Amino acid sequence: MTHPFDFDEAFGDDYLHFARQAFDDDHDDDDARAVLAHTGLSAGQSVLDAPCGYGRVAVRLASVGLTVTGVDRSERFLDEARELATSRGVVVDLCAGDLRALPVDGPFDAVVCWFTSFGYFADEDNRQVLREFHRVLRPGGTLVIDTLSHDGFVREFTEAPELVVTEHGQDIMIDRSEFDVSDGCVVTHRTTIRDGSRRDARYFIRLLTIPEWRVWLGDAGFADVAFSDRDGDAVDLGTWRIVVRATA
Ligand SMILES: C[S@@+](CC[C@H](N)C(=O)[O-])C[C@H]1O[C@@H](n2cnc3c(N)ncnc32)[C@H](O)[C@@H]1O
Repeated sequence: MTHPFDFDEAFGDDYLHFARQAFDDDHDDDDARAVLAHTGLSAGQSVLDAPCGYGRVAVRLASVGLTVTGVDRSERFLDEARELATSRGVVVDLCAGDLRALPVDGPFDAVVCWFTSFGYFADEDNRQVLREFHRVLRPGGTLVIDTLSHDGFVREFTEAPELVVTEHGQDIMIDRSEFDVSDGCVVTHRTTIRDGSRRDARYFIRLLTIPEWRVWLGDAGFADVAFSDRDGDAVDLGTWRIVVRATA
């Protein structure tokens, strides 16, 4: 994997600035409902949200009575998550750490890796992330990963829809993506213009085919691997986002 990943730029202040504009409460409520539906969790059970970002899903899961732990590499995002938890009157255990060496042991009833947060590394490290998810789950616990569907993405891919433009007032963020077939990666060049000043960052996301998910999850110790779209319907070539579910 030869693509650069500018972690600090891709997940820094600009990300927060535009994500907050793009995602309203209804959007984040929908995400939390989908997490509950796919994990089958109920009040009193424990969940690890990794990576949790600025806590938009984690705090909503805590609001329905789950015991929630969030891990993210960004101290800035964790501070935002702490503020959000306080403002909503819920407790979330928030820890700084890396997906490849989680700073927690669990055991959790579920691990959630939501919103295209898997596939940021070379393949051996991506597989290490799955081993870490397995390590912190209780036997029989559930892993749920929400990401882009490899086949749906490739089938629908043309440059035009992948020029994603997000605006916030006069500020603008433009993501230009390419698909690297040899690595199975979406490679994105992000240009941000805020207050008249321009920044550029690059990042990539490894998209696994369904057979690859089965092999990788099996190798990491998981069983009962299943796939659906966000609504719980079967995956086909037209599915853009995929939810991967597996049992530890
Ligand atoms: C697309 S965001 C999604 C966050 C959250 N799941 C959500 O739905 O809002 C991806 C997150 O991954 C975090 N991240 C990136 N690399 C990481 C790493 N090596 N370890 C832990 N977190 C990481 C970023 O800081 C960012 O918060």
